[in-house]
Amino acid sequence: MQTTHKTAPKHGLAAGADLTPVRADWTIDQGWAHYTAQDHAIWKTLFERQTRLLPGLACSAFVQGMRALPMGADQIPDFEHLSDILRRQTGWRIVAVPGLVPDDVFFAHLANRRFPAGNFIRSADTLDYLQEPDVFHDMFGHIPMLMHPVMADFIQAYGQGGLRALQCGKLAELARVYWYTVEFGLLQEAHGLRVYGAGIASSFSESCFCLNSTSPNRIGFDLERVMRTRYRIDDFQESYFVLHSLDELLQLAQTDFVPYYDRLNHGPVYAPGNVLPTDQLLHCGDGSYHHPPH
Ligand SMILES: [Fe+2]
Repeated sequence: MQTTHKTAPKHGLAAGADLTPVRADWTIDQGWAHYTAQDHAIWKTLFERQTRLLPGLACSAFVQGMRALPMGADQIPDFEHLSDILRRQTGWRIVAVPGLVPDDVFFAHLANRRFPAGNFIRSADTLDYLQEPDVFHDMFGHIPMLMHPVMADFIQAYGQGGLRALQCGKLAELARVYWYTVEFGLLQEAHGLRVYGAGIASSFSESCFCLNSTSPNRIGFDLERVMRTRYRIDDFQESYFVLHSLDELLQLAQTDFVPYYDRLNHGPVYAPGNVLPTDQLLHCGDGSYHHPPH
């Protein structure tokens, strides 16, 4: 994500009073027939640019998932067509929503293996700026990984955990887990670090930054550490957390977070760029991007 001064139209919750959901679960029709030639052209630009980057960047599960999906450069995918494949593979399906939806609605969808996806696409003059998750982020970034059984189970468990976290008042802590895994997670593979997070996989600039820049920290994933770490929503991440195997997500999916929430009532909250003596540090960032020397 990058900052910009452009003003994009607002969708979903961000649209405020301009948008009242027709259905209680906030789902809408994708309205595929209403996409314009310009919308499909923006998709094509994004898809081709990002696909060129994927070799040597995306983890093998992402690449395999993408190959098995009816998703190509020529047009914005039809959610129903993708869902046909996804449902057979991992039991998930895609439901269209107008943009960001209330937390309880979002979690309830995930807990029932429904992936809420924005049906709009960014404008041509804001290709690299993602103010809200759009159809490119949601389809290109998320759906290939949802073809993997571990990610499929993890995101469902996250939805169930989200409904509990709402009751415990620990949403911020839980959201950090999603952010540093599903959105911005890195994976150690045999030939080096690879991307599995959708926020990176769908971002042209961050996909290079997260693997190649000397600036960010790359730290072995630790659940409590991540729950205590704030994140950047306005720019590239200052720290990325690395899994040694996707199976770590399976363990997370089976972990009761409530004892963690109790511990989180005490102790520090870390800034996005902090490095701790206890970290399993793969790369200590020099901070040159976020904190350039004067
Ligand atoms: Fe996302």
